[in-house]
Amino acid sequence: MGIDVNGSETSARALTEQVVERLQQCPDPRLRDLMVELIRHLHGFAVEQRLTDEEWMAAVRFLTEVGQMCSDQRQEFILLSDALGLSMLVDLINHGAESTATESTVLGPFYAEGAPWRSNGDAITDDLGAEPLLVSGHVRDTAGRPLAGATVDVWQNATNRLYAVQDHGQSPENLRGRFRTGPDGSFAFRTVRPVDYPIPDDGPVGRMLQATGRHPWRPAHIHLIVSADGCTPVTTHVFDSASTFLESDVVFGVKPSLVHTLVAHDPATEAEPAGIHGHWYTVEVAIALQPAPGP
Ligand code: BEZ
Ligand code: FE
Repeated sequence: MGIDVNGSETSARALTEQVVERLQQCPDPRLRDLMVELIRHLHGFAVEQRLTDEEWMAAVRFLTEVGQMCSDQRQEFILLSDALGLSMLVDLINHGAESTATESTVLGPFYAEGAPWRSNGDAITDDLGAEPLLVSGHVRDTAGRPLAGATVDVWQNATNRLYAVQDHGQSPENLRGRFRTGPDGSFAFRTVRPVDYPIPDDGPVGRMLQATGRHPWRPAHIHLIVSADGCTPVTTHVFDSASTFLESDVVFGVKPSLVHTLVAHDPATEAEPAGIHGHWYTVEVAIALQPAPGP
């Protein structure tokens, strides 16, 4: 049967229904529902946009290149999902704002398990550079009870914009660390002020951004995964309020509650903290974890 979208949409609709009908035999009901709705939206999109042969082929080529770009070191499909806002949409659906817990955001591709354990107050880098930053905070549950022994797993980029996992010039442990909160739920570490950086844009996702007139930049941030027994862990960021990209994060990861002011300190008027020479910044981070649902 030919599909006559010009004369009538009936035959296009008949084809969609044929595919939907075929899916009724899917033994997994959730998979069936997902596939049926995917087909309806995909076919509807093709019909509404009157997708041409060339456009369909360009999409096939693009997705092929996204797959070919993937390796043990690079997940271009997740990057695509991030840049299309799909990752944050899934995050919003599953970690909505109805709770008072710290909000989540994208994990990103630069997380590596097994960061070195460090003691509270330690630096996560050997070189605090020109803009040292002291991060301190507390982990509590949503009722305000301090969570002792919680894990705060942090990672961030260096002043050359790169994460240690991207840059053989850095020690693999640079700007990464795991901390355990003290009896009052507190944690603290010293680091460098993070900088804005572009997501990897030398592949098909970068070409898509360029073709659609978008920039590849993320606003400066520190990543945290915070977990504690009996609570739902959170994957989140501390964004620097001074970043110019807060309104246009390429992966749509900014939530207002995650934006923090880094407070500037001057050695002319305040005593320098241990290990700091010159100007420095501080930021205070309050993390609230949702008690995990009971069994
Ligand atoms: C990141 O923040 O590390 C990141 C998140 C999404 C895509 C690329 C990088
Ligand atoms: Fe990042």
